[in-house]
Amino acid sequence: MSPSPLDPSHPRDPLSPDRRTSDAVVVVHRSGPLQGEVVVPGAKNSVLKLMAATLLADGEHHLTNVPDIADVSIMSDLLAAIGVTTTSPAPGELLMVNTGDITPVAPYELVERIRASINVLGPLLGRFGRVRLSLPGGDDFGSRPIDMHLSGLEAMGATITLDHGDVVATADRLHGADVTFEFPSVGATENILTAAVHAKGTTVIDNAAREPEISDLCRMLVSMGADIEGIGTSRLVVHGVEPGTLRATRHDTVPDRIQAATYLAAAAVTGGELFLRGARADHMDMLLRRFTDMGLELVPQHDGLSVYAPERLRAIDVATLPYPGIATDYKPLIVTMLAVADGVGIVTENLYPGRFRYVEELCRLGADIRTDGHHAVVRGRAALSGAPVRAPDIRAGAALVVAGLVAEGTTTISGVHHIDRGYDDLVGRLAAVGASIERRPPR
Ligand code: EPU
Repeated sequence: MSPSPLDPSHPRDPLSPDRRTSDAVVVVHRSGPLQGEVVVPGAKNSVLKLMAATLLADGEHHLTNVPDIADVSIMSDLLAAIGVTTTSPAPGELLMVNTGDITPVAPYELVERIRASINVLGPLLGRFGRVRLSLPGGDDFGSRPIDMHLSGLEAMGATITLDHGDVVATADRLHGADVTFEFPSVGATENILTAAVHAKGTTVIDNAAREPEISDLCRMLVSMGADIEGIGTSRLVVHGVEPGTLRATRHDTVPDRIQAATYLAAAAVTGGELFLRGARADHMDMLLRRFTDMGLELVPQHDGLSVYAPERLRAIDVATLPYPGIATDYKPLIVTMLAVADGVGIVTENLYPGRFRYVEELCRLGADIRTDGHHAVVRGRAALSGAPVRAPDIRAGAALVVAGLVAEGTTTISGVHHIDRGYDDLVGRLAAVGASIERRPPR
């Protein structure tokens, strides 16, 4: 077996050779109803931010419920370059040591590998008063500007320049400010929050994003000694503390609602029954309502969520919105479910207009989908047919795996490194509940 990225004996560059290359493939055959239990791992879009937050205080930080994903390794490389070391004392745990010997520079080679590298901006500027960060590029699904991050920091007293592709930000000490976002950006909320914890005075963030992963970050910051009101709401009030007063902490990562939704979708298209241990139904409220409209029976339990799928799903119309709306990251899964549902569904993307690239791949599997701007019209088919397809990004890759479960014959998914970025053993977890699926190493 290849070593796990979180195997304690492989604390640095922990990816197995298979995962480091892009040419492993996932082979899926049409599968019967999935049955059994899946443990839902910690959230990628939380843990990467929690890791960046360790820049805020010297000492030994302990993170638990850490997913075994490539992005955690990439983030640990970035933080190592800045001065925080990461080891894994036990499966699912990270020990992060900040000695205070910090170089506030995030170089291009590391920033370009992971979007969440932008999350070092707030902690470094707020605590050390200077940071040089290579400007992150776009994504496979379109341009991803950071203007709201920068204007929020400027409102707090930062001077920001662009220098040879780097953002250079400086401030003697940031001061509190009223920051109102025109759109509740996840990343901008996180950066203003982590900058504000050390600012002089009070920062009010209005129209803040309120994803469960942001509340998770707030809780970690509070356990480090930060003073934050309004956690979970769209108005966050941060009373800055003196630099040097925050302390290292221990924190358990919130379960991943997107990975949970992936297993819901897999149960849904195969007519299966699963118990998702650790899934937080309260973090997926709107999605679960719409899945109920599609015919799924969903029963929240104290320690997870049970799903019972009908013989055939019903089509619905869906629009993506910031939390608590339907997340854009769920959309490829929803489109896949609609591709085999009874009826016609219209899906509207309101966050990333370009995020329909995987539709061509689903059509290769026989799906009937037309896109027009930020809308997709999906006409359900009784079944799909297997073919070679390529994952264009993390979520679309997982959706293609789900589609393979209802495709006659064999579906071979390449571009698996995208899936590895955000999924903790998707193949093993699906195989354990009856999916006919395997990962083949590069030839
Ligand atoms: N935006 C701006 N200016 C900004 C910031 C954002 O115009 O300064 C726009 C973006 O271009 C986009 C929208 O606002 O159209 C939403 O962006 P947001 O800042 O909320 O997203 P993000 O922080 O860059 C996170 C997740 C994404 C997820 C989005 C939306 C991480 C590392 N990434 O990105 O997750 O799709 O929120 O929920 O947390 C993924 O996990 O595969 C993924 C892409």
